[in-house]
Amino acid sequence: MTEAGEPLDSLPGWPRHLLDVAGMSQVAVEEVMRRADEMASVLARPTARLPTLQGRRVTILFYEASTRTRVSFEIAAKALSADVVNITVAGSSVTKGESLIDTVRTIEALGSDVLVLRHSRSGAPYLAAQHFGGHIVNAGDGWHAHPTQALLDLYTLRRHLGGKGGLRGRKIVILGDILHSRVARSNVWTLTGAGAHVWLCGPPTLIAGFEGWARAMRIGDAASPASDASARGELSVTSDLDWALREADAVMCLRLQRERQEAGLLPSLREYSARYALTAERLRLAHPEAVVLHPGPMNEGTEIAPEVVTSDRSLIGEQVANGVAVRMALLSLMSAQA
Ligand code: NCD
Repeated sequence: MTEAGEPLDSLPGWPRHLLDVAGMSQVAVEEVMRRADEMASVLARPTARLPTLQGRRVTILFYEASTRTRVSFEIAAKALSADVVNITVAGSSVTKGESLIDTVRTIEALGSDVLVLRHSRSGAPYLAAQHFGGHIVNAGDGWHAHPTQALLDLYTLRRHLGGKGGLRGRKIVILGDILHSRVARSNVWTLTGAGAHVWLCGPPTLIAGFEGWARAMRIGDAASPASDASARGELSVTSDLDWALREADAVMCLRLQRERQEAGLLPSLREYSARYALTAERLRLAHPEAVVLHPGPMNEGTEIAPEVVTSDRSLIGEQVANGVAVRMALLSLMSAQA
């Protein structure tokens, strides 16, 4: 029995690995949300620790830079009493040419039960899962998916916009570099799964291709089970920011990377900011109580104005804090599997 309430063997159907949120059932999502609530109350206690992962080893292996995701996984694993090993690729044998598969096998041989992996290549966690006997948690792979971020964003939004109907029918704008964003891709699944109407907005070069996804979703052909497709919220795609913001209940800004200008996808960062930065003035187009999110890291002044970051509408700090509770929930659910 976990201190958080459930017998560890009572969670049939929970997957061995957490690779993506696409295809995750609503029952599973609800279980994560419920458990994250329990974990948030554990974290509020003076001794914020549960014995759930006692004697288990969690290895955190990041091939890309990260502050909040890495640290919140570490805090979450430690709060569940796990033994935590952090590997920085810069100081590991990866610099000597060791492959991902060899690294994963080495980590397994050293006795790891859970491997939290971030990699710049889409699909890397799937490859790792074929060679690792324990559980893999995808902490972000290429442009593909960032499941734990999407679940913490969902948790944060539900706390603020939840109400009776949950997120059903709410208008949620994801703004910026959609094309290169694993955060946007994963959020589309979880937010439309919760019944929200998601609007993807950015310059035409950075939303290219998403119209097709929106169309596929409208006709119920977006690689999601048909039963679940009918309950999904809609997906819209536009370059018209004013239109997207009108009456929005939430706006999630994404980081704009300098490399995008170098790659010729933007005329200049200054022009991007003039047209797409979320300013206090633009936010007035949204619902008067609209909330603002950003997964971080932020370029204040480029994609988001500093006064929006510090305004009382901003949930950016809360997202970081909720990340610990949601990751504790996920680690505890996974470790309950054989
Ligand atoms: C994001 C990521 O790394 O995917 N950040 C995060 O995990 N909090 C977004 C980004 O890098 O822009």
